[in-house]
Amino acid sequence: MENCDSSDIADGLEEAYVVEEQGSKNSVESDDSNGDEMGLIRKEFEHHEKGVSRINNGSFGTCPASVMDSQAKWAGLWLQQPDKFYFGPLQDGILQSRRIVAQIINAEQVEEVSLVDNVTTAVAVVLQEVAWGFMEKKFQKGDVVLMLHYAYGAVKKAINAYAGRAGARIIEAELPFPVGSNDDIIDSFRAAVDKGKQNGGRIRLAVIDHVSSMPSVLIPVKELVRICREEGVDQVFVDGAHAIGNIEIDMQDIDADFYTSNLHKWFFCPPSVAFLYCRHSFHSNIHHPIVSHEFGKGLPAESAWVGTRDYSAQLCVPSALEFTKKFQGGIEAIRRKNHERVVAMGEMLAEAWGTQLGTSPELASAMVMVALPNCLEIHSAQDALDLRTRLRKEFAVEVPIYYRALDKDLQSNRGASFRAYARISHQIYNTLDDYLKFRDAILHLVAEASKVEEGVCLKK
Ligand SMILES: Cc1ncc(COP(=O)(O)O)c(C=O)c1O
Repeated sequence: MENCDSSDIADGLEEAYVVEEQGSKNSVESDDSNGDEMGLIRKEFEHHEKGVSRINNGSFGTCPASVMDSQAKWAGLWLQQPDKFYFGPLQDGILQSRRIVAQIINAEQVEEVSLVDNVTTAVAVVLQEVAWGFMEKKFQKGDVVLMLHYAYGAVKKAINAYAGRAGARIIEAELPFPVGSNDDIIDSFRAAVDKGKQNGGRIRLAVIDHVSSMPSVLIPVKELVRICREEGVDQVFVDGAHAIGNIEIDMQDIDADFYTSNLHKWFFCPPSVAFLYCRHSFHSNIHHPIVSHEFGKGLPAESAWVGTRDYSAQLCVPSALEFTKKFQGGIEAIRRKNHERVVAMGEMLAEAWGTQLGTSPELASAMVMVALPNCLEIHSAQDALDLRTRLRKEFAVEVPIYYRALDKDLQSNRGASFRAYARISHQIYNTLDDYLKFRDAILHLVAEASKVEEGVCLKK
């Protein structure tokens, strides 16, 4: 929407309301859960600050009251009698959590699943191993580590800090955004693999996001892993930080060597706990970067004791699973509903603002990118952060904003006409009002920022 015509906006708004009433594709009831589920949701998320439209589940996740209670019980047991707890319930409890994860992700063996603090830690586990590969001369200087241009900032830093410093050449697969189809992603990835293999290059590790963070795009990991296998990439590591509880994941189907996901983002665990899956052939060679008593007994054991600390979050996987079972259809139904609703909300916002979604609905999970009107004048990452802060402080809306330069020469920006996108999330506690408040906040800022002459939006 280069031209922010206020009459278009008004029409868009009206239309959004009308279609809502008519029950068209943009229509989402404020909540179609049955009364019991609505009551349950209110009770379980009563601790959320009132009046805040929290449409950013993606960044930090959420933890319901029943799981918080369970965590407090575990922490209390430790304090009651640490010796007894250490020699029994702690290890049994972690094993129980790992068993549940192994079943959900369809791992072949529970030994393939370790629990760590978060995805950042899991990345350190895998990348440290790559660094050792260089130090022990299994890899040669200039061997390649491949990652997506969309890789999470902290993960990029880890790849540079561990592998780059040890001698790896790091190649980024440029990816298009906005993006309409898997083929666009697959083609770009294939080109990056070709680049890595030029002049006899060896790709030692490919790091692939499953649901990227910013912009949020559901990546066709299975196809990308297959390309890696065909092209002789040594190992594949999938960063599925946003995956478990959000999209379906099946380790045997995806066929990566390593896969990690946070359980505190979309699986209702408290902060912080993540799993790291290592295919059976690898788990004996890989170590936790924090070395303690269990060193050499396999990654699951090493990770289950990294010194004295609070392990209560890792013990909450059973109660998080119990929580999901209180909803008809469990986690699968929650996932499906979140996806459908976030897409509907994204379409409603794009229509009201005269913009568009950043991906086709198939490339969205429970998060979707919605373009913001250009007349908001977002010209840098700092402008995007300033808008996010303003939305929090003035409108009580929590939503991350993504800025992408409109560089006409950049292949990956092909066809892009919007500079900024909001990443909206949907989780079970969200209501229609959360999104309407965001819609109105942006319309207010558009009206404030621009005057309209002959249909063209000008800065005031
Ligand atoms: C794609 C991706 N990778 C890694 C991380 C890091 O997760 P954590 O901060 O829980 O370690 C995030 C966090 O949002 C992410 O989105």
